[in-house]
Amino acid sequence: MIESNKKPLIEVKGLKKVFKTRGGELVALNNINLKIMPGEVVAVIGSSGSGKSTLLRCMNLLIAPTEGSVHFDGETIFNSESPVDINIDQVRQNIGMVFQQFNLFMHLTVKNNLHLALKKVLNLPNEEIEARITNVLETVNLSDKIDSYPGELSGGQQQRVAIARVLAMRPKLIFFDEPTSALDPELTGEVLEVMKRLVTDYKYTLVVVSHEIPFAREVANRIVFMDEAEILYEGGPDTLVNPPNERLKRFLSKILSAR
Ligand SMILES: Nc1ncnc2c1ncn2[C@@H]1O[C@H](COP(=O)(O)OP(=O)(O)O)[C@@H](O)[C@H]1O
Ligand SMILES: [Mg+2]
Repeated sequence: MIESNKKPLIEVKGLKKVFKTRGGELVALNNINLKIMPGEVVAVIGSSGSGKSTLLRCMNLLIAPTEGSVHFDGETIFNSESPVDINIDQVRQNIGMVFQQFNLFMHLTVKNNLHLALKKVLNLPNEEIEARITNVLETVNLSDKIDSYPGELSGGQQQRVAIARVLAMRPKLIFFDEPTSALDPELTGEVLEVMKRLVTDYKYTLVVVSHEIPFAREVANRIVFMDEAEILYEGGPDTLVNPPNERLKRFLSKILSAR
């Protein structure tokens, strides 16, 4: 792979996140250095509490890191040493995020859920909004559900609407935080299928926190294993077949046996 002349789409340097808790302080991230190149698909795995969600939230500035810097698309968007003047709304538009919970408005149709997001965030003309809605619903295979309410859809379909809502913003990068964890097992496939299409057909850059190991093996270029607030290991997808690290090996056998 010739990537030496490419610049990372997002990079974090020396990232640390400390939460103040009643008992004192909790280090959720420690000494995190990570580069994501354009077009890469990075799967982040690790035990519950190891810092995966906190990493995503620090990278898109949903929460402020305690130390370190974040660089996105050639721009420093956070630096704990010196405040940077950036348009945070623009950053968040460019870094889409899909959560475990779909967070749809239940009293609005699919169309109006998407419409609201596009109007509120981007304030696009209605014609452009309509065109984008048609387009993204095709991408997630839900054109026929445009006038349905979320309550009339399965969990898998609702998550695909949530993905469509992110796509409609035309982000440069999308984070997925356990997108299939709230779904019944038989519904995870359709969501993973859509995510795969984002990579194969649309060449999206994705960072996916997920324990869907077969998906990670097939779609990810890189596996990042987090353990106790640190990146313990980074490697190619083969890492999941022949884990070169004892703790990773133990983690993988734990999640495989949980199935
Ligand atoms: N807002 C918060 N306040 C205090 N502690 C938090 C907060 N968010 C996360 N944590 C703690 O930080 C650690 C990492 O959490 P998280 O990033 O959610 O882990 P993961 O996503 O890998 O399960 C955990 O110990 C968690 O309890
Ligand atoms: Mg999490």
